Amino acid sequence: MIESAVEFIKSKITGDFEIGIILGSGLGTLGEKIENSQYVDYADIPNFPVSTAPGHVGRFVFGQLNGKNVMCMQGRIHLYEGYEVSSVVMPIRVMKMMGVKKLIVTNAAGGINENFDVGDIMVISDHINFTGRNCLIGRNDDRFGVRFPDMSFGYSPELSRVAFNCAKRLNMKLQKGVYIGCTGPSYETPAEIRAFRIMGADAVGMSTVQEVIAANHCGIEVLGFSLISNKAAGLSGERLTEEEVLTIGRQKSEEMQTLITEIVGEI
Ligand code: HPA
Repeated sequence: MIESAVEFIKSKITGDFEIGIILGSGLGTLGEKIENSQYVDYADIPNFPVSTAPGHVGRFVFGQLNGKNVMCMQGRIHLYEGYEVSSVVMPIRVMKMMGVKKLIVTNAAGGINENFDVGDIMVISDHINFTGRNCLIGRNDDRFGVRFPDMSFGYSPELSRVAFNCAKRLNMKLQKGVYIGCTGPSYETPAEIRAFRIMGADAVGMSTVQEVIAANHCGIEVLGFSLISNKAAGLSGERLTEEEVLTIGRQKSEEMQTLITEIVGEI
């Protein structure tokens, strides 16, 4: 299935794409900054899952960003849409077969760390997979990676260092912390958030962890960013809404784009 998807994409697009980017909720506009862009809709790719989440377009954008060939997902696949984990990570394996060596993942997340403000950008230092699933369960495909992949450096310390250097140059503030991934689609309860804080999580969201496991499995280095779009459940006294998540994404997308563009030039 992955091979036929890659074959289809290669029949439309030529070139080598060393850097992959996944754009999260409300952050999709970076796709418009890509030069010489060529698009492939997920819906046209054989066997490919289609993203149905709000704020997600559902296509690959191929082209150049800051002089580098990039392959960008404008819209990702989430477990809460009802897809199997294998579908959630299929795009990662497609990226691998298109030549991707480094992956930048972005998401919107609720802030658990009390020092985080809405609108902050957090470099993901590590994650807690709280989805109760793992995309590598089942027979291992040795062509992609080993049976028991190490996750000690799941989020590349080198790439994170590049991110902090770029942010300094751009005079941008960056936070750093642990992302806990849940399935959603209900937001967490205040009791869950209190528990997650004790577990060591700084931000919570409904994506990313399976993609990062699959990327590590097949030897792709990962840099992750969470845009803190709201305070996590129970921390602000207000109800959580999808609108605020998308609004903050739109407000901060310019800054996120500037940062990612700078980083892409360096890696
Ligand atoms: N919880 C889970 N996912 C999210 C949140 C949140 O508070 N904000 C944005 N995505």
